[in-house]
Amino acid sequence: MQHRDTETDRCCRMLLGDVFPNFEADSTFGRMKLHDFLRDSWGVLFSHPGDFTPVCTTELGRAAQLSPEFSKRNVKLMALSVDSLQEHHDWSKDIMAYNNTEPGSQFPFPIIADDRRELVEKLGMLDPEEKDHNGMPLSARCVFVIGPDKKLKLSILYPATTGRNFDEILRVIDSLQLTAHNRVATPVDWRPGNSVMVPPRIPETEAAMLFPAGVYTKDLPSGKKYLQIVQPKIDICC
Ligand code: BEZ
Repeated sequence: MQHRDTETDRCCRMLLGDVFPNFEADSTFGRMKLHDFLRDSWGVLFSHPGDFTPVCTTELGRAAQLSPEFSKRNVKLMALSVDSLQEHHDWSKDIMAYNNTEPGSQFPFPIIADDRRELVEKLGMLDPEEKDHNGMPLSARCVFVIGPDKKLKLSILYPATTGRNFDEILRVIDSLQLTAHNRVATPVDWRPGNSVMVPPRIPETEAAMLFPAGVYTKDLPSGKKYLQIVQPKIDICC
């Protein structure tokens, strides 16, 4: 594979469980320091390629519509791009109009101005395939979910040309919050209320003690007892 000698090579690659950098930045909500802004909340920091662009407008519009759902889950949203604070303020009015929101109402979460590209480089949020009119790479559609312990819980990286699904981001937050407090794992396409799985490192005997109301173990051709399902009505305790 060809080596890419771009800004992305100089970024810090964060791993799940790493403490998220406590960066300071200007945003539409004023100067912010990440850890102080989050306090004991969860956080979703997501970047977009640029203000006044069609896909980004639909994405931030949807995130704004869903912001009460994020708040209900104690999650604070933060958007970020390499545009200026003034551009963010002006564009947020367009997003609200796109959403048919009452004129004059405030955009519900901060948009961080990273026009000096410090954060996108540091956090590995650039898409080297998408360039601005000066030939500089744009920010990719990156999503970081940060826990109340300030550690990285999940990261997703989409190219500029593919808009994200914010219902999916809410769904993964439901899973992250459930699995942070319960020794369970959520299967494919899981939704709150659906059955959950006993994680593989928990033996059948221990699972029976952890979930006294019942664990269903699926018989499989291998004879291995790894597919253990906890039914949704069962109280899952910490
Ligand atoms: C957009 O948001 O529409 C967009 C931005 C950069 C590349 C492609 C699409």
